Amino acid sequence: MAEREQENQTEVTEFHLTGFVGLGDLQVPLFCLFLLIYLVTMAGNILIILLVVIDPHLHTPMYFFLGNLSYLETCYSSNILPMMLANLLYGGWRTISVTGCLMQHYFFGLLAASECCLLAAMSYDRYVAICKPLHYTILMNNRVCLQLIAGSWINGLFIMSIVLYLMCQLKFCGPSEINHLFCELNPILKLACSDTYLIELITILISVACILPPFFLTLASYIYIISNIMRMASVNGRKRAFSTCSSHLMVVSIFYGTIMVVYVLPKTDGLREINKVLSLFYTILTPLFNPLIYSLRNREVKEAHRRVVAKLFKFEKN
Ligand SMILES: *[C@@H]1O[C@H](CO)[C@@H](O)[C@H](O)[C@H]1NC(C)=O
Repeated sequence: MAEREQENQTEVTEFHLTGFVGLGDLQVPLFCLFLLIYLVTMAGNILIILLVVIDPHLHTPMYFFLGNLSYLETCYSSNILPMMLANLLYGGWRTISVTGCLMQHYFFGLLAASECCLLAAMSYDRYVAICKPLHYTILMNNRVCLQLIAGSWINGLFIMSIVLYLMCQLKFCGPSEINHLFCELNPILKLACSDTYLIELITILISVACILPPFFLTLASYIYIISNIMRMASVNGRKRAFSTCSSHLMVVSIFYGTIMVVYVLPKTDGLREINKVLSLFYTILTPLFNPLIYSLRNREVKEAHRRVVAKLFKFEKN
């Protein structure tokens, strides 16, 4: 009884994310760099959303998915980067409430899980387009599209609500320092003074059940797509088919590549610092790369840029 009272007294309500502490002279350049990354990420993704909404040429399932992916990435980036920037301004000593930290982790997981599913849906879309072109309009009608997109969000919501519920049961009674750049599961769990065995087990099961099926679906789609492209007789046909899925393939590779590097690396103390830096890849670089890849590589998106700019100029001349 006495012990429990003491725990209550010292219950921690605020965390420090000390991942940026001790940067010294690097603080200002890093702040500028992250601010630039955030601005470019938001501009790039919002531009893609606008193009998909405005340009009738992009009113196809593939670009609806892309628009929705860009929307997801603006949320993802806004969940992480503004808080990082504020923390950098304070030299890494800005406090964050426990609730705020749990919410950040909730949205991070929700958006990451939804992105996994959305990327799988996009590769299924490419599989149907390339391997079953005659059935494309039937298989990928508006309703299916909407269901796949809604399903991705609902899946993420459902899974993370379970995790959030479990995390709200945790007690924190100090220390309050998280040596990380944002609120991620493992560093938070290390600070809990209640038993974390159950939540660790459940989150491992959930992340396996949530990441592996979309991953294998994506992989299978691309195995079919690539073997189908290899069998095409004409070189031009091959090039054309490949150009419709190469941007997405790059985005998928970056997404899973960065996740794998971080999660496959052993969690020893020596690697913790490297892990911190690597986590930047999937938190701030993935949302930055997606719109860049599509804007620079995808012919139709490039043409849409041109058309919209031309329209704007005409509008101004009148
Ligand atoms: C998201 O997908 C829906 C359904 O396909 C589509 O109507 C909507 O325009 C998309 N949103 C964006 C921002 O592209």
